[in-house]
Amino acid sequence: LGRPREHWAELGSTNDRATAWARAGAPHGALVTADAQTAGRGRLGRAWASESGEDLYVSAILRPAPGKAIGALGLAVGVGLREGLARWLPAAQLKWPNDVLVAGRKLAGILCEARWVGTSPEVVVGFGVNVGRALFPGPLAQSATSLRRELEAAVPSREEVLAQVLPALERALDAFFAGGFAAIRGRYEPHCALVGRAVLVDMSNGTGPKEQATALGLADDGALLVAPADGGPPRRVESGDVWLA
Ligand code: BTN
Repeated sequence: LGRPREHWAELGSTNDRATAWARAGAPHGALVTADAQTAGRGRLGRAWASESGEDLYVSAILRPAPGKAIGALGLAVGVGLREGLARWLPAAQLKWPNDVLVAGRKLAGILCEARWVGTSPEVVVGFGVNVGRALFPGPLAQSATSLRRELEAAVPSREEVLAQVLPALERALDAFFAGGFAAIRGRYEPHCALVGRAVLVDMSNGTGPKEQATALGLADDGALLVAPADGGPPRRVESGDVWLA
């Protein structure tokens, strides 16, 4: 990952630029980075605060082999990102599907966007890592963190973080493409912030009521398995969002 690479001082969204570049024929592994984004996007239509100039905004173009199942690709990206960041923050955890948390606060987020060209998936994997930012605006003050906030001294540069994260991502993606999520489940579940905890689940992609449950673990296809608090049978959460109760 990273050849070729484009770096921009400012973009709307690195995912949008990578999508346009992919449509123009950019190869597998091409990378877009930016110092700042004016329209950074998160999952479920949320915004990603991207004005700092001190954090990492990255999008990679992936061209998996024709016919590859990519439903759990974002989980594999989470595994790689967490493993890369573990050099500095070994206690970093994954919140299903693929947020990276430190002590319950969000350090990094992932936004995967795919389309099919015939039988071939064309994927843009975007991730943001809070690196140098010390202060977060509004509600993020409570819910977000950064390498600077966690480490105080000896904060790595954005390029050092990228240089650590890209090979870790490649290793996680190689294992995922060879064996599916089942092949990396053992690298996800022990670091999952939700397993064994009481959670609130939105089964309707961010629009419906939240249901109380206990997170049990992950299925071989990456679905989150939860036991509803009302005593019903275990359920699979395949999309939407989950919070610690
Ligand atoms: C989330 O947690 O909801 C996902 C956040 C993803 C943010 C990254 S920053 C680089 C890339 N470009 C975007 O517009 N979004 C992703």
